[in-house]
Amino acid sequence: MSQSIDRSSITAVLAGIADPETGRPLTEMGQVQAIDIGTDSLAVRVGLTTHSALLWNQTRGRIEELLRARFPQVPKVSVTVAPHDRPPGKLGQIGLEAKSVIAVGSGKGGVGKSTIAASIAIGLARAGSRVGLLDADVYGPSVPHLLGLSGRPQIENGKIMPALAEIGSQRMPVMSMGFLVPPGEAVVWRGPMLHGAISQMLRDTAWGPLDYLIIDMPPGTGDIALTLSQVLPLSGAVVVCTPQDVALLDATKAIAMFRKVNIPVLGMVENMSFFVCPDTQKRYNIFGTGGARRTASELDIPFLGEVPLQIPIREHGDSGTTADNFADPACREYLEAICTRLVGNLAAAHAVRPPLPSLPVL
Ligand SMILES: Nc1ncnc2c1ncn2[C@@H]1O[C@H](COP(=O)(O)OP(=O)(O)O)[C@@H](O)[C@H]1O
Ligand SMILES: [Mg+2]
Repeated sequence: MSQSIDRSSITAVLAGIADPETGRPLTEMGQVQAIDIGTDSLAVRVGLTTHSALLWNQTRGRIEELLRARFPQVPKVSVTVAPHDRPPGKLGQIGLEAKSVIAVGSGKGGVGKSTIAASIAIGLARAGSRVGLLDADVYGPSVPHLLGLSGRPQIENGKIMPALAEIGSQRMPVMSMGFLVPPGEAVVWRGPMLHGAISQMLRDTAWGPLDYLIIDMPPGTGDIALTLSQVLPLSGAVVVCTPQDVALLDATKAIAMFRKVNIPVLGMVENMSFFVCPDTQKRYNIFGTGGARRTASELDIPFLGEVPLQIPIREHGDSGTTADNFADPACREYLEAICTRLVGNLAAAHAVRPPLPSLPVL
C-alpha cells in the first residue's frame, strides 16, 4: 500500500537499513545526509564509510528498492551515496589504527595463499577502502616479490616506513620480513623471536589509519595465530586451499587451529579450482572439484569462492604485478566476487551482532 511521503516516513524506511560497517541503523549515526521531496520525485543521500566501499552499490540499490516499494506513487526515486568519515579506533595493546584485521591462512604451502591474500588486499583497496598488507610468513616471505617491492624500509620518528604498493590512486602500505632479512638468507625462528618480530611489524610500522589490515600467515604452524590473537582482536581468518584431499585435510587443520585460538573463520577460498584451456575452452578439474565447497559446508563456514588456475595469475606473480590480475576480466571476476562476499559476510555478522564501539585509549 502506498504511503504519504514526509520526512518521517522516509526516515522510517532508512532506519530499517543497517550500516554495513557497524550493523547499526543508518539513521542512528548521522548517515542520512539529505532528503529532498519534490512533486514527483524523491532523492535521498546517505553517507557510507570507506570500510564498506565494496558494498556501496549494493546498499544503494537496496535502499532504492525499499523506497520504491514503500512509495510506489513516486515516479522518480534516486539514492546517492557519499563518503561518511568514521576514523578507526585503536586495537589491542599495540595501538594499531584499523577497523578489521583479517588473517589469510592455509594448512599447506604452495596453494596460493599469498596470491589470494595480496589479491584480497588489492581488491579492497581498488574499491576505495584503506588497506594495509602484512606478510607474516616469516619462513617464506613472498609478498614483496608478488607486488614487485624491494629495498630496506626507512625509520622515521621511531616508526618503520612501510613499502607502498600503487593500487590505482592509492598507495597501499606493505610490510614484510622480506624487507628486513636479505633474500636467500635462512632465519631459524624460535617461538619468542617469532612473537617479537610479528608484534614489532604490527606495532612499529607507520600503517596510518586503516579500514582493513590483511595478514598473509605462514602455512601450518599455530604459533603466529596465537601471537596475533594475543596482541590484537582479529575480525577473523580466511582459509585458502586447493580441491585436493591432502590440501583439504590441511585446511581443516588450519580451521581447527584458528578456532582453538578463538579467531573466527570468515570463510574458505578454493584456489586452482579448475583450468580452462585457452585453445579449446575445455574445462579440466586438475586437482578435483568442489572439495572446498563441500568441506566448508561440513565445517559450517562460508564458502567465499573459487579461483581457476590461470596462466596470467602465475605470470603476474612472477613479474611482481599481481595487481594486474584485476586488469584481466577473466581473473578479476573471481577475485572481486571473493572480496565482495568477504565484506558482505562481515557486514552480515555485524548486523546480527554489532561490534562494541571502540573504547577511548586512556
Ligand atoms: N590461481 C592461480 N593460477 C595460476 N597460478 C597461481 C594461482 N594461484 C597461485 N599461483 C602461483 O602459484 C605459486 C604459489 O603461490 P603463492 O601465492 O606463493 O602460494 P603460497 O603462499 O600458498 O605458498 C606462485 O607462483 C603463484 O603465482
Ligand atoms: Mg606464501
